[in-house]
Amino acid sequence: MCGIVGYVGSGPVSTRGLEVVIEGLRRLEYRGYDSAGVALVVPGVGLATAKKAGKLANLVEELDAHPLPAAGAAIGHTRWATHGGPTDTNAHPHVAGKIAVIHNGIVENFVRLKADLLAQGAVFTSETDTEVVAHLLSAAYDLTGDLTAAMATVARSLEGTFTLLAVHADHPEEVVGARHDSPLVVGLGEGENFLGSDVAAFIAHTREALELGQDEIVTITATSVQVTDFDGNPAHARRFTVDWDAAAAEKGGFRSFMDKEIADQPQAVADTLLGRTDAAGRLVLDELRIDEAVLRSIDKIVVVACGTAAYAGHVAKYAIEHWCRIPVEVELAHEFRYRDPVVDERTLVVAISQSGETMDTLMAVRHGHEQGSTTLAIVNTHGSTIPRESDAVLYTHAGPEVAVASTKAFLAQITAAYLLGLYLAQLRGNMFADEVATHLAELRAMPAKIQTVLDRAGRVRQIARWMADTQTVLFLGRHVGYPVAMEGALKLKELAYIHAEGFAAGELKHGPIALIEPGQPVFVVVPSPRGRHSLHSKVVSNIQEIRARGARTLVIAEDGDEDVVPFADEVFRVPQAPTLLAPLLTVVPLQVFACELANAKGLDVDQPRNLAKSVTVE
Ligand code: G6P
Repeated sequence: MCGIVGYVGSGPVSTRGLEVVIEGLRRLEYRGYDSAGVALVVPGVGLATAKKAGKLANLVEELDAHPLPAAGAAIGHTRWATHGGPTDTNAHPHVAGKIAVIHNGIVENFVRLKADLLAQGAVFTSETDTEVVAHLLSAAYDLTGDLTAAMATVARSLEGTFTLLAVHADHPEEVVGARHDSPLVVGLGEGENFLGSDVAAFIAHTREALELGQDEIVTITATSVQVTDFDGNPAHARRFTVDWDAAAAEKGGFRSFMDKEIADQPQAVADTLLGRTDAAGRLVLDELRIDEAVLRSIDKIVVVACGTAAYAGHVAKYAIEHWCRIPVEVELAHEFRYRDPVVDERTLVVAISQSGETMDTLMAVRHGHEQGSTTLAIVNTHGSTIPRESDAVLYTHAGPEVAVASTKAFLAQITAAYLLGLYLAQLRGNMFADEVATHLAELRAMPAKIQTVLDRAGRVRQIARWMADTQTVLFLGRHVGYPVAMEGALKLKELAYIHAEGFAAGELKHGPIALIEPGQPVFVVVPSPRGRHSLHSKVVSNIQEIRARGARTLVIAEDGDEDVVPFADEVFRVPQAPTLLAPLLTVVPLQVFACELANAKGLDVDQPRNLAKSVTVE
């Protein structure tokens, strides 16, 4: 989704502003976008802008061909089209009078506002909702001569969601921002300050940051940051230190961020487990901040999430229900929000989100709040909106996830959800302390096992390359293997643009088996034979059923499971693990398969077509 960067430096004007902004935009590329642009304020001259459809490289090429002058303030934007196609003209910034503005979100009342402006004689050059904001700001500025006041006036008149940054031709010393339901953070430098959609925009320059609240206006100069609410009253922004370094967001020698992030998974799981026990080995989730009495009283958990995060929720359901005996529903956040769900003050709404900014998930959290439920966020990105609006947060420590399709965040989300399940079981007396300790020890053994799966991934890569021409792949799983099958299918769709579907293995004979014809590749996620025996034997029967009809069976099975061998065209082995923890292993070959196949097709695995990393509109 749109990326936003702002910069003001001190001293003589230079090209630093433009460099910082372009670099910030590059670091925000992971959010997904289809055009990019910049605006600079050149003292004594006014605004200088450049914008281009397509990748950032197109904009950089344009800037090389037609360099912009040295400047004071700078803003930059990567746009993910909503109103108006991804063209040069619709790219941001949008200029009206002496003001240039960039925007993330959607102005829902823009049709009415635009009609008013047209009636007053305003001339529009783009199809965007954002251009309306530029005109409104220009008019508001003309009344007061104060960009901050103008921003507050305009922010009050807008409906929808927005992060806005604006600069004025006569004010090379300042950038003004506003946020309502979309993200914006401030980076605090030495003699320079930054604004960004998230901290990745400026971590190359500073790790000191301010978290803006909802409905706030910020004005940065080289040496000051002033924050107010939309009525101009001073507001307090929380200061924090970013613990990601710039290098963490780089590819680290891998072919793509996706390859790196798949390889990072043992670390992501290990880090998510770090520091969550006390000296006596008891699980402590300090950041939870929910009254223990409230957690004891909940009688239902509803997990709300989208995409991969929702599949993490499905995995969590099996573990939490088994460990805590609390009913767990998992719902796509956008369906939950508009369905009139039955939730109340004894419901715990758990929002799972890598970005912490997914608008559908945020809206589900708000809906849970309105119904009196307690809300808990499992989120990877510090300073994001969902944790701020939730009663409590359990951070995953996956580090920055840059590739649009989620991998390491998925494993970290499952890990955090397991911690939550064990914590609730401990608190509510469903488990003895030694039982919790045993599960924790098993969890701590998982990073090494994930590494083993990665070390063995050569064969799955080879098969993926051979299958580059495949048209359709099916995925089967049962119990916790079912959401793994769905996630395997999602990865293949997202990365390789191949038709893929995940099914519950038990559902096979109720329909999907009709799809099986000779040569049809089917991945089957097999549960441990050391778990519930009937579960394992039923999945082995399913493999036989599809093999008998000509399917090419690609089986993911535990070390030592020999029952699958006679019916498998290929067996990808994972180390032995407790049934409920197995998804942390079995999904990995499926991620590798999708990534390698997409690479073999020559596709951009980090930024698949049409997808955005952080979907900040409903
Ligand atoms: C987008 C991304 C997916 C992600 C989903 C939820 O659709 O492309 O990879 O799973 O959003 O994102 P979140 O940040 O809430 O986990």
